[in-house]
Amino acid sequence: ASILMVAGEGLPFIKTGGLADVIGSLPKALTERGHEVKVVMPLYKKISDKYYNELHFDCEYSVSINYHEVPVRVFSKVVDKVCFFFIQHQGYFERDSLYGYKDDGERFGYFQKAVIEMLNQLNYWPNIIHCHDWHTGMIPCMVKETHDADPRYRAIRFVYTIHNMAYQGNFGPEMLDSCLGLPYYLLDNGNVRFDGGISFMKSGILYADKVTTVSPTYAQEILSPQYGEHLEAVLNMRKYDLWGIVNGIDIELWNPNTDPEIPYHFNKVNIATQKNKAKIALQEELGLEKNPDVMMVGVVSRLTWQKGFYLLMEQLDALCAAPIQLVILGSGESQIENKFRELENGNKGKICFYYGYNESLAHRIYAASDLFLMPSLFEPCGISQLCSMRYGTLPLVRETGGLKDTVDAYNEYEKSGNGFSFENYDSNELIHTLYYACDVYYNRKEDWKMLQRNALNTDVSWQQSAKTYSLLYDELVD
Ligand code: ADP
Ligand code: GLC
Repeated sequence: ASILMVAGEGLPFIKTGGLADVIGSLPKALTERGHEVKVVMPLYKKISDKYYNELHFDCEYSVSINYHEVPVRVFSKVVDKVCFFFIQHQGYFERDSLYGYKDDGERFGYFQKAVIEMLNQLNYWPNIIHCHDWHTGMIPCMVKETHDADPRYRAIRFVYTIHNMAYQGNFGPEMLDSCLGLPYYLLDNGNVRFDGGISFMKSGILYADKVTTVSPTYAQEILSPQYGEHLEAVLNMRKYDLWGIVNGIDIELWNPNTDPEIPYHFNKVNIATQKNKAKIALQEELGLEKNPDVMMVGVVSRLTWQKGFYLLMEQLDALCAAPIQLVILGSGESQIENKFRELENGNKGKICFYYGYNESLAHRIYAASDLFLMPSLFEPCGISQLCSMRYGTLPLVRETGGLKDTVDAYNEYEKSGNGFSFENYDSNELIHTLYYACDVYYNRKEDWKMLQRNALNTDVSWQQSAKTYSLLYDELVD
C-alpha cells in the first residue's frame, strides 16, 4: 500500500521522545516490506537550521486560519528511500520547543489543514493516512467531514496510533469553526466534544478506520478508567478496531558492534570484557569512582510522573545503601530534578545526575550499564528497555504496558528471562527487586550471563511488528 505517516516529530530530524524513534524506523521497515511510505511533520527551527541547504522545495499554497489565508510552504528530503515532507511556517514552528505553547491547538490545527491540502497540491493520493498522537488526531475527521464530496479524498483510509493517552490535545470549542473549519454540530453530536471543548485525541479515535496503540497490554489497559484518561468509554466503542502492536527499534542505529557513540564495541562473544571497558570509560567521563566490578544502574528518561521515579524517592536510604553506581540522564519536572541533584551531591562518585537531553551520552549509558531502571507508572510501549536489551543491559521494569510485553522476568528455577520486573506500583516491590538484581549480579554470575545472553538474543527489531502493520493495512486496502 502507499502510506502517508503524519507525526509531530521523527528521527533523524528531530526527537523529544519515543515517537521520534518510531517515525524514524517504522517507515523504513515497511518500505523494506514493499510499501511506499512517506512522512510529513512540521519544519521546526532545529530542522531548518541543520538541514536548510539539503531541503527540496516542493510547493506553496495557503490555508484559512481564523478567517485569514495563511501561507504554507512544503519542503522534502529523502532518507533511506523514505520521503520526509516538512510543513513550513516560521511563526508557528520556528520556536525553541516543539510543544507546550498556549496556541498549540492553532499550530497543529494549521499543520493538519496544511497536510490535507498538500495532497491536492502535490497530486499525491496515498491509500492510507497513518496519524500518530494528538497532533494529528483531527485529520480523519476533517477529511471525512469536509472533503467527502471529492472521490480522491473519499478513497483514503485512516489509521490512528495512540502513543500516550496522557497527552490528548484538548482545546476550547471556538477552534472548531475558526481554525479547523468544522461545523458546530460536531460539538452537539459529541463526536469531538470533551469536557466542554474539543479533543484531538477523541476525534482521532472515533473517526479513524483502525485505531492502534503501541503494545497489546496497553491496548487492554486503556479500556479501563485506571489507564484510559477519561476516554475509556470512547475506546470501548472502538475496541474491535483497536490493535496493540509493540514497537521495535532501528537495530542498525542501536548496534553495540558498530555504534560510533561508544568507545568499545561488543557482541555476544566479547561482551564481558568490552562492557567493562565501556563502564570504566563512562565512570571517567562522569567523574564516578573507577571500578569495573560494581553494578552500574542506568536511567535515560523524561523525568515525569509517568516514569515512576516518585517510587525511588520513597526509598532513598535503601537506594544509597545498595552496592551500585547510579547514572541518571534526563530532564523534566523540577521536583524530580531537584531530588536527583541532591542525591548526586550527597553521593559523589556513586551517583551521577546528568541534567538535560543528550543523545550521544544516552548511547554510552545503554552500553556501559549492567541494569536499566524503568519503574513506570504506565508505559504505552517504551523504547529505552529495548535499547538496553540490545546492549546486553538488563531492564528492571514495572509490569505495565509495553514493559510487560517486552521484558521477561528472571525465573531462578527455570533459568529463564531477559530482565527483572515487579507488579505493583509500590516502592517496597521496586527496592526489593533492585536488591534481588544485585544478588544475582554479585552472587549468581552464571545466571547473570544467561540473562544477558537472552537480552542480546531478544528480537527488538521491527521485523514482527512491521508484518502486523502490513496485515492491518491489508484489511483497509484491497
Ligand atoms: P517516552 O517516549 O515516553 O519518553 P520511550 O522509552 O518510548 O519513552 O522513548 C524515549 C526515547 O528518548 C528513547 O530513545 C530514549 O533513549 C530517549 N531519551 C529520553 N530521555 C533522553 C535524554 N535525556 N537524553 C537522550 N535521550 C533521551
Ligand atoms: C510514548 C510513550 C512510550 C512509547 C512512545 C513511542 O512517548 O510514552 O511508552 O514507547 O510513545 O510509541
